[in-house]
Amino acid sequence: MAISSSLYTLTIIISFFIAQLVITNSQPILNSVEQESVYRVLDSLNSDIPWRSLFPDDLCSSAPHGVVCGYTTLPTQSDPGSVSIQELSFGYVSDHNPNPPCNPNSTLPDPFLFSSFPNLKKLFFYNCFTHRPVSLNSFSQLGSGLEELVFIENPSLFGSLSQSFTNMTSLRRLVITGSKVSGEIPSGFGLLTNLEEVTLSRNKFVGGLPENVSRIKKLKILDVSDNGFEGNIPVGIGELESLIKMDLSMNHFSGEFPVSMKGLKGLELLDLSYNRFANCGIPLFFSEMSKLKVLELSGNELGGVIPDIWGKLRGINGIGLSRVGVVGNIPYSIGVFLENLSYLALDNNMLIGSVPLEFERLEMLNELNLKNNNLSGRLPFSAKFVSRVGRKLEVQGNPELCLDKRVIGSFSKSNRNLGHLKVCKRVEIPKFALPHVSSSTSIGHQVQSLSVLVVIWLFFM
Ligand SMILES: *[C@@H]1O[C@H](CO)[C@@H](O)[C@H](O)[C@H]1NC(C)=O
Ligand SMILES: *[C@@H]1O[C@H](CO)[C@@H](O)[C@H](O)[C@H]1NC(C)=O
Ligand SMILES: *[C@@H]1O[C@H](CO)[C@@H](O)[C@H](O)[C@H]1NC(C)=O
Ligand SMILES: *[C@@H]1O[C@H](CO)[C@@H](O)[C@H](O)[C@H]1NC(C)=O
Ligand SMILES: *[C@@H]1O[C@H](CO)[C@@H](O)[C@H](O)[C@H]1NC(C)=O
Repeated sequence: MAISSSLYTLTIIISFFIAQLVITNSQPILNSVEQESVYRVLDSLNSDIPWRSLFPDDLCSSAPHGVVCGYTTLPTQSDPGSVSIQELSFGYVSDHNPNPPCNPNSTLPDPFLFSSFPNLKKLFFYNCFTHRPVSLNSFSQLGSGLEELVFIENPSLFGSLSQSFTNMTSLRRLVITGSKVSGEIPSGFGLLTNLEEVTLSRNKFVGGLPENVSRIKKLKILDVSDNGFEGNIPVGIGELESLIKMDLSMNHFSGEFPVSMKGLKGLELLDLSYNRFANCGIPLFFSEMSKLKVLELSGNELGGVIPDIWGKLRGINGIGLSRVGVVGNIPYSIGVFLENLSYLALDNNMLIGSVPLEFERLEMLNELNLKNNNLSGRLPFSAKFVSRVGRKLEVQGNPELCLDKRVIGSFSKSNRNLGHLKVCKRVEIPKFALPHVSSSTSIGHQVQSLSVLVVIWLFFM
C-alpha cells in the first residue's frame, strides 16, 4: 500500500506540473464549498496522500483522475459561465483508469458530504470500503440529477436501498456488487424509469422483485444474482422489451416461469440457475426468446423432458441444464440446429438412450458434461472431437456408455480421469436397416440368414 501510494504521489506530481503549463485564466473556477468537499472526501478515503498540497489550485483546472468538472451554465461573451463537480470516481482500477486509490482505513465521517455536490452525475467506488463499515444511507441524499451510482467490491458497505433512492429519477445505472447491502428493493423502484442497468449481485438483499419493475421500460440489464431474493418472477417482467441480460441465479425464487416472459424478444442471457423453481418443466415458450445466446436453468427441480425448441434458438452458445430432474432422451435437434453451441451441461439428470449422432456436428463445442445420467450405447465422437474438448468432456456415471476402440486412445490421452469408459463391443446395426419379414416364409429365412451374415461380416471388419 505504502509503495503504491508513493508511486501514485509521484505520478500526480508529474501530471500536476504538466497541468500547470496548460492552465488558462479565462475559465470559471469551482466554488469553495465543492472544492473543500472534494478534499474532505479524498482525505477520508486515503489520508496517506497529501491531497491539498498536491492539488492546491482550482480543481476544475487540475484534479486527480476521477474528479471531473463540467459547465452548469455555458460561457457567453459577457459571462464566463459556471462549473461544478459532475463525476467522482474512487478506487484505483488500472493504469488506464487510475482513480485515487482507497486505503484500508477508508471511511466517510460525514454522512451528508455528498449532498454538497448538487450537479453530480456519476459516483463510482471500486474496492474502497473494505474494513470500516460505511452505510449506503450516506448516499441516499444525492440529487435527482445523478445518472450513475456504482459500488464494486466494497465488502464493508452495509445498509439498504431506502425509499429515498427512488427520488433519483435520472438514474441510468445502479450497480452495487460485492457488499453487505441488505433489505428489500423499495416499492417505489418502478419510478426510476430511466434505469438501463440494475446490477445488485453478491449482496444480502431479500424480499421479492417489485411487480412494477415492469415500468422500467429502458432496462437492458437486470442482475440480482447471489442474494436472498424470493417469491415468483413478477408477471410484468415480460414487458421489459429492452432487456438483454436477466440474471436471477443463486437466490430463492420459486414457482413457475410466467408465460409473459415470451415477450422478452431481445433477451440474450437468461440465467435462472440455483433457485427453487419446481415441477414446471422447461417451457416451450422459451423458444420465442429467439435472440437467446445463454440459457442457464441448472439447479432447479424442473422435471419433464428436454423440449424440442432448438430450431428457433439457433444462436444459442451455452445451455446449462445440470440437476434439473429431466428424464427421457437427449433431442437430436440440439446437434442439428445449434451450430454455435460451445457449452452444454446435462449432467446429474435421469436421461436415457444414446447420445445423438448429430452431436458430432457441433464444431464449436468445447465443453460437454453428460455425467451421472443413464445414457447408453456408443459415444458418437471422433478422435478429433475428443482431443478438442479434452478434459471438458465428462461422461462418467453412465455405466452403459462405450467408445470406439479407435477413439479411446485419444480419449485417455486428453482426459485421463475418465478411465472407466468401456470399449464398444461391436458395431451396432440400426434396426431399420433390415427389412421386417415374417420368419415363416422361406424368403424370410433367406433374409434372416443374410442379416446374420452381415452382422458377422461387420463384427470381423
Ligand atoms: C489505519 O488506522 C490506524 C489507526 O487509526 C493506523 O495505525 C494505521 O496505520 C492505518 N492504516 C493505514 C494503511 O493507513
Ligand atoms: C424526495 O424528494 C422530495 C423533494 O425533494 C422530498 O420532499 C422527499 O422527502 C424526498 N423523499 C425521500 C424519501 O427522501
Ligand atoms: C409498486 O407496487 C407496490 C406494490 O406492489 C405499490 O405499493 C407501489 O405503490 C407501487 N409503486 C409505484 C410507483 O407504482
Ligand atoms: C454463429 O456465429 C457466427 C459468428 O459469430 C454468426 O455469424 C452466425 O450468425 C451465428 N449463427 C447463428 C445461427 O446465429
Ligand atoms: C438405466 O436404464 C436401464 C435400461 O437401459 C434400466 O434398467 C435402469 O433401471 C436404469 N437405471 C436408472 C437408475 O434409471
